[in-house]
Amino acid sequence: MKFSEEKLKKVNEIIARYPDGKQKSALIPILHIAQEENNGWLDVTTMDHVAIMLNILPIEVYEVATFYSMFNLKPVGKHVFEVCRTGPCMLNGSDDIIQYIKDKLGINEGETTSDGLFTLKPAECLGACGYAPMMQLGKHYREHLTKEKVDLIIDECRRNAAKNN
Ligand code: FES
Repeated sequence: MKFSEEKLKKVNEIIARYPDGKQKSALIPILHIAQEENNGWLDVTTMDHVAIMLNILPIEVYEVATFYSMFNLKPVGKHVFEVCRTGPCMLNGSDDIIQYIKDKLGINEGETTSDGLFTLKPAECLGACGYAPMMQLGKHYREHLTKEKVDLIIDECRRNAAKNN
């Protein structure tokens, strides 16, 4: 695992914010950067590399990476649908939305489509209960989901992928 020059600069800036011996405080932002640099997921080599950079034990990195759902521990697609399934979203139809995505994309929870475009990853409350049912897609929330909206989102992702190829 190797950070690009630009990302390494950013990583070092973040580490420098903390006093000696407190570098572990930089762990979460650095894991985000490491995940971006590693095609959206964290493998053991990457986590071990982060541990060395922060002068902490690998287990301290694993503990954090396995606790937070925003870190992926296996390869994911270009677009990760993190569909909330906690109470308010469930009461507003998240189960149907999840099932619809599964049927439409032909994948189960935690799986990625064979073209590498989509991963379905059910999530717990994402703090947008008033907009239920909802999902996180990259850095954005998609709210008040319906099957029609899911179709539009999938089309939009496919169009973007075609444009970038
Ligand atoms: Fe879905 Fe809170 S329950 S965002």
